[in-house]
Amino acid sequence: MRAAVSATYGAPEVLHVEQLPAPAPGPREILVRNRASTVAAALVAARSGTPWFARLAFGLRRPRYPVLGGEVAGDVVAVGSAVSRFAVGDRVVGLTKMGAGAHAELVLLREDGVVEPLPDGLTEVDAAVLAAGPLTALPFLTVHARVRAGQAVLVIGASGCVGTAAVQIAVHAGARVTAVCGPRGLDLARELGAEKVVDRTTQDVTAAGDRYDVVLDAAGASSYRRCRPLLTDDGAYLSTVPSVPILWRNLWTGRRTRGRRGVVAFTGLRSVEQQLDTLRTALELGRTGELRPVVDAAYPLDKIADAHRHVEHDHKAGTVVVLID
Ligand SMILES: NC(=O)c1ccc[n+]([C@@H]2O[C@H](COP(=O)([O-])OP(=O)(O)OC[C@H]3O[C@@H](n4cnc5c(N)ncnc54)[C@H](OP(=O)(O)O)[C@@H]3O)[C@@H](O)[C@H]2O)c1
Repeated sequence: MRAAVSATYGAPEVLHVEQLPAPAPGPREILVRNRASTVAAALVAARSGTPWFARLAFGLRRPRYPVLGGEVAGDVVAVGSAVSRFAVGDRVVGLTKMGAGAHAELVLLREDGVVEPLPDGLTEVDAAVLAAGPLTALPFLTVHARVRAGQAVLVIGASGCVGTAAVQIAVHAGARVTAVCGPRGLDLARELGAEKVVDRTTQDVTAAGDRYDVVLDAAGASSYRRCRPLLTDDGAYLSTVPSVPILWRNLWTGRRTRGRRGVVAFTGLRSVEQQLDTLRTALELGRTGELRPVVDAAYPLDKIADAHRHVEHDHKAGTVVVLID
């Protein structure tokens, strides 16, 4: 099978498509012919080994996982002897462990892992995108921020993989959304339901004097200290990007029910059950059209290095997809 392999940390050129032996499923595993996956900012960190804390998860001196990739969307081509949930020919969507192994033609998933039948009406590309940003945006907004109808929500980094999902999920919850992003994403943020859009290159949202019940920074572009004046008395500031100050703030205020809170959380640390529940919600919202999978660009597996370059250096509007034909 073909797979995108990287033996060292570094620039996108470290990625090469190679032939690897086809894996065989263990008793509780299914083998999926993968059709679509994504490249998001977290995978760029896993490939490059920067920022430094990425190496805590992906290997200190060299990559622990030679094949990267988190989302798997395709059809089951073999099942282990004890598998009962899936059969050969089923269309499925799932997540590998640690965001590793999915940029390959054949991927093993545990049947009791994060994997679901792919609903009719959704393509493999739709499914891969719904299994990416929404898996972070949903728990951040619904579990950690406890967003409610009528609240004011600010999404920083609204044009990205997590941000495009966050805008839609907050709108779906009945919140009034203000979206902050670069000029290329402004129209998209409006289309996704944001009431107000702020061009980060010309306006400073912290200087506008508006207040929010929830500030979700999906770009790591702000800080609790800078955003605190924007929060209502019981407002929550959430960041998807860890830093020492937000980790500290989370320790002291993350679980508060009253007063201002600062929260950082990690999708990869959620239990299989929690991630499965979120995947089901994302797929259902996608199936009903309430959550639009926004594709910025699609690259074939052979152009995986270009996909990484695009995510790393360009201003995207949505999610970058890898097509594995
Ligand atoms: N904690 C977790 O579990 C978790 C899970 C997933 C992702 N993440 C992290 O969350 C971050 C976002 O991930 P992603 O996949 O959504 O990345 P992404 O698709 O690259 O999106 C980041 C967005 O931020 C925008 N941006 C950049 N600088 C900005 C600024 N100063 N102000 C406002 N917006 C800015 C970019 O748009 P423009 O360039 O057009 O402005 C881009 O759309 C990454 O650091 C990733 O590692 C964390």
